[in-house]
Amino acid sequence: MSEQIVILDFGSQYTQVIARRIRECNVYSTIVRYDTPADEIAAMAPRGIILSGGPSSVYAKDAPLPDKAIFKLGVPILGICYGVQLLAHFNGGKVEKGQKREYGKGTLTVHDASCALFETLPTTLQVWNSHGDKLTKLPKDFAVVATTENSDYAVIEHRERRIFGLQFHPEVVHTPRGREVYSNFVHGICGCGKHWTMRNYLERAVADIRTQVGNERVILGLSGGVDSSVAAALLHKAIGDQLTCIFVNNGLLRAREAEVVQEVFGRNFKVKLQYEDATKLFLGKLKGVTEPEKKRKIIGKAFIDVFQAATKKAGKAKFLAQGTLYPDVIESVPIAGNPAALIKSHHNVGGLPKNMKFKLVEPLRMLFKDEVRVLGLELGLPKEIVYRQPFPGPGLAVRVLGDLTADKLRIVREADAIVVEEMKASGLYYSIWQSFAVLLPCKSVGVMGDERTYDFTICVRAVESQDGMTADWVKLPYELLEKLSTRIINEVKGVNRCVFDITSKPPGTIEWE
Ligand code: XMP
Repeated sequence: MSEQIVILDFGSQYTQVIARRIRECNVYSTIVRYDTPADEIAAMAPRGIILSGGPSSVYAKDAPLPDKAIFKLGVPILGICYGVQLLAHFNGGKVEKGQKREYGKGTLTVHDASCALFETLPTTLQVWNSHGDKLTKLPKDFAVVATTENSDYAVIEHRERRIFGLQFHPEVVHTPRGREVYSNFVHGICGCGKHWTMRNYLERAVADIRTQVGNERVILGLSGGVDSSVAAALLHKAIGDQLTCIFVNNGLLRAREAEVVQEVFGRNFKVKLQYEDATKLFLGKLKGVTEPEKKRKIIGKAFIDVFQAATKKAGKAKFLAQGTLYPDVIESVPIAGNPAALIKSHHNVGGLPKNMKFKLVEPLRMLFKDEVRVLGLELGLPKEIVYRQPFPGPGLAVRVLGDLTADKLRIVREADAIVVEEMKASGLYYSIWQSFAVLLPCKSVGVMGDERTYDFTICVRAVESQDGMTADWVKLPYELLEKLSTRIINEVKGVNRCVFDITSKPPGTIEWE
């Protein structure tokens, strides 16, 4: 990458957000561990270095510290929060326990408007703080740029050495003009251009794939989700018919999902698409199984079996393509006390056994999800695929509680289609994380016309979330809820009651299972 900013990760929950903000400025950013040796960093030829925040105190016994030679590399450095403490620690300043934790909104007053970080910005700014320790003595030859109510050293700089420290977090949405602070750093101070765009990436990725793959054949498991779809379109652009996509219909897909994939990839893109209808096999194996973990295991194993057999059918291939994203490849920093480090990514159904002897092609491994979507649009994929909501690997199996039957799957599929349709019509579908229907495993009494009914209940769930780890239920307008309930009960045979889930995560999970 010709120009990049290197971010040293000290375990902040916001490290990846910093990286995304830099990339939104059209500058490539890489996250490395806090203790990466300075010569390795120098070899990456960064235009600037950012020290992320982190949960530690520089005086703690096991405080994560960087290689101090990074201060001699001569590139601009921006320390955020804990990063400021590090500047102080290595440059003769002093950090002490704050009287009270400074957490939440604050007002920043810029006293030295000539600081390059605040060019273009007003002298009063709303910022977001989250720190306990604070600077009580400036590091040597540093000057104060700005203060907050609780901190006399909220922003400091060493103008000559181009080293800056920010006590607040410009990367979070609660610092509304934080993006401009990063933009001033990467463009104004580090002198980066705006080269990181998905159009440029596309050209480079196509060339890289061709170099890696040569004349060999590549297989890709296409699920219809965003990542595998974009990977498929990208690989197809690069190597055309050398790519075979395998699409497994496990019988647990949403309405029209298999058709859309065949339409978009088979007919429009003319991708070599091998369609495996394994509906009967999956439903046969799941018959009578009620326990959620057991269902997941059965589905995971059946998928591997079907996929393995399908790859044999597809003929000899040297490469297997995967839609791995950047967050999956960043080496996480296990720092005690950092809750972000404790949350493990989960549910990897569809992971393939080690004995499948393929070389991997992972053309999205440098990208964040939002970049993958933009790339998808560049490649000409429809919005319907690029901006679709996440859908779990085990599909509707986690949305039919208890045992699965073809009729229950029909019910949840029809109800789900109504939810999707109405959410799209309301304009909310693309602005929230997920919205879907769940079939509850019990029947209740109702009355329709003159008749007494004894039918199932559909639960509608709609959540907002950044990454699926935590979530809030969405306060859908009453009119929309009314419409959903009326349509689901009238149109889906076998349903006589509709409820709305008002549980956040935690304590609930997003899927019911
Ligand atoms: P939970 O239910 O754990 O879900 O709160 C968090 C997010 O993960 C999705 N999810 C899955 N995704 N395979 C996936 O690829 C799975 O097995 C799976 N289970 C849940 C869920 O839809 C939500 O977005």
